[in-house]
Amino acid sequence: MQPKLVQVPEALPVKIYTTERVGISKATHDAHLGLWKGYANKTNEIRQRLADLDADPTKANQIFSEMRALKTNYAFAYGGYINHTVYFNSIGGEGGEANGDIEALIKESYGSFGRWADDWKATGMAARGWAFLAYDHTEQRVQTYIGDSQDTFPAWNHTLLLGLDVYEHAYYLDFQAARPKYISAYMEVIDWDAVNGRIPR
Ligand SMILES: [Fe+2]
Repeated sequence: MQPKLVQVPEALPVKIYTTERVGISKATHDAHLGLWKGYANKTNEIRQRLADLDADPTKANQIFSEMRALKTNYAFAYGGYINHTVYFNSIGGEGGEANGDIEALIKESYGSFGRWADDWKATGMAARGWAFLAYDHTEQRVQTYIGDSQDTFPAWNHTLLLGLDVYEHAYYLDFQAARPKYISAYMEVIDWDAVNGRIPR
């Protein structure tokens, strides 16, 4: 069976390179694009192997088995593909305060944009991989989450609206170990229109 495959653009949209005005360089984005493609390629490879029943189902085992390796690494690969899709879709904007529906949702959950921004920066500092802003369909409100890897720690029934990549590959070339400087720069290039476009209607 031929599985559905995911795809990453050959080149990044031009708007992303406008982040150079705050110090997030083209070289960082171009290297990062290669990592995003890697997540897509491995997603497709695992989908193909699962479709082919490459892992003998009779040998599935919770300690170690091909099936276990494919299933656990699938969450990492596809999670990485989605996280980076949202990351690259959400930068290259004017940054600053949120507008439109996302502004209202942030104020409803955090009281003010400033309080959310403080929470968001702290979430980015407390994370080993990602800060996520997601819409919780169960409670119909937004909430920030920490991601320690590509497949932690979101809950079910959420839509990812904004993802801040805090893996060192996202900033070390430009800011060395100064993650706070990277996060401050990132805040100035969030594309709030793109975030609004992902809110479920
Ligand atoms: Fe990344």
